[in-house]
Amino acid sequence: MTHTTVLTKRSVVPLLVPLGVGALVAVALGLYGRVHAPTGFAVGVAGFSGPLAMKAWLTTGAALLAIVQVLSAMAMWSKAGTRSAWLAPLHRWSGRIAFLLTIPVAFHCLYALGAQYDSPRVMIHSLLGCFFYGVFTAKMLSLPRRGLPGWTLPVLGGLVFTALIGLWLTSSFWFFTTLGVRL
Ligand code: HEM
Repeated sequence: MTHTTVLTKRSVVPLLVPLGVGALVAVALGLYGRVHAPTGFAVGVAGFSGPLAMKAWLTTGAALLAIVQVLSAMAMWSKAGTRSAWLAPLHRWSGRIAFLLTIPVAFHCLYALGAQYDSPRVMIHSLLGCFFYGVFTAKMLSLPRRGLPGWTLPVLGGLVFTALIGLWLTSSFWFFTTLGVRL
């Protein structure tokens, strides 16, 4: 048996379950976003002019923390980084808080607005939103698994980051450049 065969055989199977569950999460969110009637439900949050502004700033907070998470991941994999005890907690907590900030935003998106495909920006945003939670689920389910290919976490982590930045560009960036940078 050649070296490549061993690697391929060993490393693919444990990845199928996390990827399968991640795909199910993305499809379920997409279906819910299409099937349920948007409620237009909105809560006024103190300090913000409305739900869109609140969501634009929460998403900006999540995107900035995601940048901290990627930079700390790169540092962790660098030679020097292996000695810094604070890097791993920084990586973990910036990721956790970034994810938590997206929850009230996505709840409003899905429950109040649903998945809308009436403009390219909103369609890309809606699809990215479902993909974000799907690939995030796949990454979290892959973390404790042994025998996965070395590229699994960097690739899944990279996809989570790219999806979140895409969500920011198709929502907060649009909001700030169309309606102004305001609370
Ligand atoms: C889970 C699937 C998601 C769906 C189906 C979805 C759908 C939508 C829709 C239809 C809008 C209104 C767009 C408009 O008319 O301007 C919207 C707005 C917004 N969404 Fe989402 N979204 C999702 C997830 C997310 C996530 C995960 C974030 C942030 C991490 C996010 C951030 C925002 C923000 C900031 C706005 C307000 C600015 C805007 O109107 O574009 N969305 N979303």
